[in-house]
Amino acid sequence: MTIEIRDLRPDELRPWLEAVETAFGEGVREERIAGFERIIERDRMLAAVDGDTIVGGGAIFSLGLTIPGGELPAAGVTAVGIMPTHRRRGALTELMRRQFRDARARQEPLAILWASEGSIYQRFGYGLASLSSTLELPQARGVFRTKVEPEGRIRFIDRDEATRIFPPVHDRIRRETPGFITRTAAHWDVEVLDDPAWRRNGAGPRFLTVHEVGGVPEGYLIYRIREDWDWTGFKSTLEVRELMAATHRALRELWSFCFGVDLVATVRSVLGRPDHPLLLMLTEPRRLKLTLADALWLRILDVPGALTARGYAASDRLVLELTDVFLPDQAGRWTLDTTGDRPRVERTEAPPDLALDITDLGAIYLGTFAPSELARAGRTSQITPGAISRADAVFATAQRPWCPEVF
Ligand SMILES: CC(C)(COP(=O)(O)OP(=O)(O)OC[C@H]1O[C@@H](n2cnc3c(N)ncnc32)[C@H](O)[C@@H]1OP(=O)(O)O)[C@@H](O)C(=O)NCCC(=O)NCCS
Repeated sequence: MTIEIRDLRPDELRPWLEAVETAFGEGVREERIAGFERIIERDRMLAAVDGDTIVGGGAIFSLGLTIPGGELPAAGVTAVGIMPTHRRRGALTELMRRQFRDARARQEPLAILWASEGSIYQRFGYGLASLSSTLELPQARGVFRTKVEPEGRIRFIDRDEATRIFPPVHDRIRRETPGFITRTAAHWDVEVLDDPAWRRNGAGPRFLTVHEVGGVPEGYLIYRIREDWDWTGFKSTLEVRELMAATHRALRELWSFCFGVDLVATVRSVLGRPDHPLLLMLTEPRRLKLTLADALWLRILDVPGALTARGYAASDRLVLELTDVFLPDQAGRWTLDTTGDRPRVERTEAPPDLALDITDLGAIYLGTFAPSELARAGRTSQITPGAISRADAVFATAQRPWCPEVF
C-alpha cells in the first residue's frame, strides 16, 4: 500500500501527534498539547496516511531568518516523523517534495531545520548552515582574564516583566546575527517563558534575570540549577538556557554572573555561539570543553531570490555551475553579479568559474563556511584559476551565524 501525503484535517491533531511522537519513540504528553496548539500553524501541517490511518507527518513554522545583510522568509521545518511500521517506503521523500512546493508557493526562498540526524536531509538539498556550541566546566575554572567590574545591575524578574523586557533585547541581537529566527508572542510564552515541571528534567525552576544599565535593559539570562549535593559538599550545576546580550558589557557581566552563583560546582551551556565569547574572556579556554555540532540546515528553494537578498563583501562576477538533484529546475549555470548597487543573479551560458552543489551553497549562504573550506573538503571545485579565492571574498561575512534555538 502506498503512503499518501496530504493536509492535516482539523480533527486529526491527536492521531497526528501520536504518530509523530511514536516515530520519535515518545508518547503524547497531555500537558504539551495546549501549548503545541498555540504555536503550530494548522494550515502548514501535513499528514502521511496509509488508507485511513495517520502514520506520520511534518509541519512548518513561517519564520523570518536573518541572513547576511538582511532577512528572508523561511519555512521552518519541524515535527517530521514517520512511524517505524512505515519507514523507508518513501514517505519522507514525498513529504519533502510537498513542503518545498508549498514553501515556494508562499514565496519562501529558504527552508531551514534542525536535524535529528545529519544523514537524513542532505539528499534533499539541505546544507550545513550553522554550528552551535556546548560547554561545561567547573565553576572555579571560570576565571576571567580581567576582573569584571559591573557597570550594570542584574535583577530577578517575573514572567510578566520578562514578557515585556526580553523580546526587544532578543530582537536587537536577532537583527544583526545571521541564523537568528523570529519569535512570535506565543512562541515566547510557550517555548521560552513557560516553565512546566515536565520540561525541568530533574532540574529546578527557570530563573529569569535582566541586566540593566541606568534602568535600560541590555541583556538577559535564563537559567536553572540542577541541584546535587551530599555530605562531601555541593555539586550543583548551573544550566544556561539562554543568555542574550545586546552590548559587550552585558555579555561580560552576565557570563561573570554565571560563575559567581553560590553552591554551584559546574556551569553548563548549550546552543551557544560557535565562536563562543568565553574563549576570549577566560584565562583557561581549554577548560570550557567546547564542543561544536551541526545546528541549522538550510535548503535554497529559489536561487535568485535567496542570492539577491544577501549582502556581499566584494564586487565580482562569478559563474556558478550548480547541481541540484532534488529540485533539478535550479540546476545549471547562474551568474552572480555583485558589481552593481544590488546583486543580480541570472541564467547564463558563459563558462563556469565554480562547480558546486545546492548543499554547498546552503553551507556558504549564512557565512558559516567559506567556498575554500568546501573545496578543502572535496566538495566545491574551481574551474577558473583563482575562482575559489574570489568566491571567498564575495561571500565573506563579518558575523558568524548563530541560531540559539531548536524548533
Ligand atoms: C527520518 C524519517 C522521517 C525518515 O522517513 P522515511 O519515510 O523512512 O524516509 P524515506 O523512506 O523517504 O527515505 C528516503 C531516503 O532517505 C534515507 N533515510 C531516511 N532516514 C534516514 C536516516 N535516519 N538515516 C540515514 N538515511 C535515511 C533512506 O534510506 C532513503 O534512502 P534511499 O532513497 O537511498 O533509499 C523516519 O525514519 C523517522 O521518523 N525517524 C525518527 C524521527 C526522526 O528522526 N525524524 C526527523 C526529525 S528531524
